[in-house]
Amino acid sequence: EKGGYDYFMLKEIAEQPQAIADTLLGRLSERGDIVLDEVRLTDQDLRDVDKVFIVACGTSYHAGMVAKYAIEHWVRIPCEVELASEFRYRDPILDRSTLMIVISQSGETMDTLMALRHAKEQKARVLAICNTNGSTIPRESDAVLYTHGGPEIAVASTKAFVTQLVACYLIGLHLAQIRGVMYADEVAAVVSRLRRTPDNLRELLTRMEDVRELARDLKTASTILFIGRHVGFPVALEGALKLKELAYMHAEGFAAGELKHGPIALIDKGTPVVCVVPSPAGRGVLRDKVVSNIQEVRARGARTIVIAEEGDDEVAAYADHLILVPRTPTLLAPLMTAVPLQILACEIAAARGHDVDQPRNLAKSVTVE
Ligand code: M6R
Repeated sequence: EKGGYDYFMLKEIAEQPQAIADTLLGRLSERGDIVLDEVRLTDQDLRDVDKVFIVACGTSYHAGMVAKYAIEHWVRIPCEVELASEFRYRDPILDRSTLMIVISQSGETMDTLMALRHAKEQKARVLAICNTNGSTIPRESDAVLYTHGGPEIAVASTKAFVTQLVACYLIGLHLAQIRGVMYADEVAAVVSRLRRTPDNLRELLTRMEDVRELARDLKTASTILFIGRHVGFPVALEGALKLKELAYMHAEGFAAGELKHGPIALIDKGTPVVCVVPSPAGRGVLRDKVVSNIQEVRARGARTIVIAEEGDDEVAAYADHLILVPRTPTLLAPLMTAVPLQILACEIAAARGHDVDQPRNLAKSVTVE
């Protein structure tokens, strides 16, 4: 049942290219139009939206953080992202022109469900992104976009995460299209890049041997830090979460620019720091900023594990370990950069002798608040 893999998690990591392809399937017309057929909100409802809230927990929250960058950039409406467990306790301001996007693999997470109910009481329109047909969250939502990741068995979310990202991108592009903010050819250009990501990821997955070796090397580290900017920031948080939940190690993700406001004091000789470097194309400024953050931590003795885009040759000079991922437009990059971090956490956990699929103290779906 594990298809020849030692763990469900490894099987599910390997299934990610197909899961992305399946989530895209049938959602894109030949002309490049985006068809969200399970979304029962009218185009007019979506044109009336003046604010988006994205609410989720854990890994799904990290997908939501990426979505915020994409939605604000493409759709040009304010988009907030919040942890479901915090959302309703701060009396958020919602009304019928608010679109609330809830993201949940299981569709049963109690915190997310409670946030959804709160939003509905305030008359917001609720759109769910969910991997489990017929579960409670999509049933209580106004509309649902199902991710077609297939059942996820391992407690650590992997293929659900990348398919959630795809669903978020589709929603962002759909909103931009029907609101006339992006031209059809701009949408088509992103869509054609999205369509290439399964192949890009398949290729990336064939060369993860170095990451496995690195994992064996890092298994005794007392902490591992992760830094990133822009969409690389949620990827850093996700890398740290995976490591905590699977390897039971101290790990923390930071926005790279925040280092000098405190966390840089943590860096000691040999502290491993995983650095997610943005693409040099398009937003080169962002990439250069991360490169200078890498230099800062290195100057203080950090051992740098750098995840960068193929072709960014210069970055090798700052990397103790370099992991190159296929080129993608900046906003789509988490579909690539998150994957070596999943493998790193899985392999470190295995090297430490943990039950990768069933980490202690955790359940696959968290049905209590
Ligand atoms: O089923 P959900 O997406 O609502 O679950 C949310 C979190 O509990 C989940 O993503 C959790 O953080 C994962 N175990 C992370 O790998």
